[in-house]
Amino acid sequence: MIYLYANIVKSEFCSEQCKDILILYGSPKEYGTTGRLLKSFLGYLPFDFNMTFINSYEKNIKPCTACDYCHNHEKCKLDDFELISNSINNADVIIVATPVYFLSFPAPLKAIVDRMQVYWSARFLQNQYPPIKKSKKGILLACSGADNYDGINIIEKQCRQFFSVINTKFSGTITWTGTDFDKIGSDSIKHAKKMAVELFSDD
Ligand SMILES: Cc1cc2nc3c(=O)[nH]c(=O)nc-3n(C[C@H](O)[C@H](O)[C@H](O)COP(=O)(O)O)c2cc1C
Repeated sequence: MIYLYANIVKSEFCSEQCKDILILYGSPKEYGTTGRLLKSFLGYLPFDFNMTFINSYEKNIKPCTACDYCHNHEKCKLDDFELISNSINNADVIIVATPVYFLSFPAPLKAIVDRMQVYWSARFLQNQYPPIKKSKKGILLACSGADNYDGINIIEKQCRQFFSVINTKFSGTITWTGTDFDKIGSDSIKHAKKMAVELFSDD
C-alpha cells in the first residue's frame, strides 16, 4: 500500500471512509531515517487512506518572492503550487516528514512552507476565516543527527505556525533523534507504530 516513490497513489482496497493524507517529504533520501520512520507510521494507521506524496526534492517548488500578489488575489502568482494547494484543500491529515538541517527544514521543504504565505494573506489580509474550509490533523515526523530536541523543537514551532493558517490542528510529533549514533532506531520505529494508533484513537 505504501509507495514512497509515487507522487499520487491510491490504496487498492480503500473503503468509503478513506482519509486523504498529504505527505510533505523533506529528505533527499527515500529510504533514510525519515523514510523508514514514515513507512512504519503509515503501515500502522488504523484506517484506509489515499496518499499524496510530495517529495520536495523532486518538486522543486520555487521559494516565495514576496511579490505581494497574494495580498489582493486568491492565489499565488507562481504557477507551480497547484498540486500542493489542491492536496492541502482535500486533505484530512497532513504529515510533515523531514530531517533537521541546521536546526530547520531542508531548503526545498522550507520553500514549500514559505509558499503557505498565500493562506496567511487570505486569512489576515483578505479576512477569509478559515482560508481553507476543511479542517485537518497535522503531524510532524522528524529525524535529527544529534541526540537532543534542539532542532526538532524549532521545526515543531514552525509547523504549528503554518498548520494554524491552513486550518490544521497540530496533533503530535514523532521523532528519531541521535541518528548519527543510532542507525537502527528500533525504539523510534516502535514508538511511531504506537503513535499511529494513538493519534487517531478519538476519530
Ligand atoms: C546539511 C545537513 C544539516 C544537518 N543539520 C543538523 C542539525 O542542525 N541538527 C541535527 O541534529 N542534525 C543535523 N543533520 C543530521 C540529519 O538531521 C540526520 O542525519 C537525519 O537523520 C537525516 O535524515 P535522512 O536519513 O532522512 O536524510 C544535518 C544533516 C545534513 C546533511
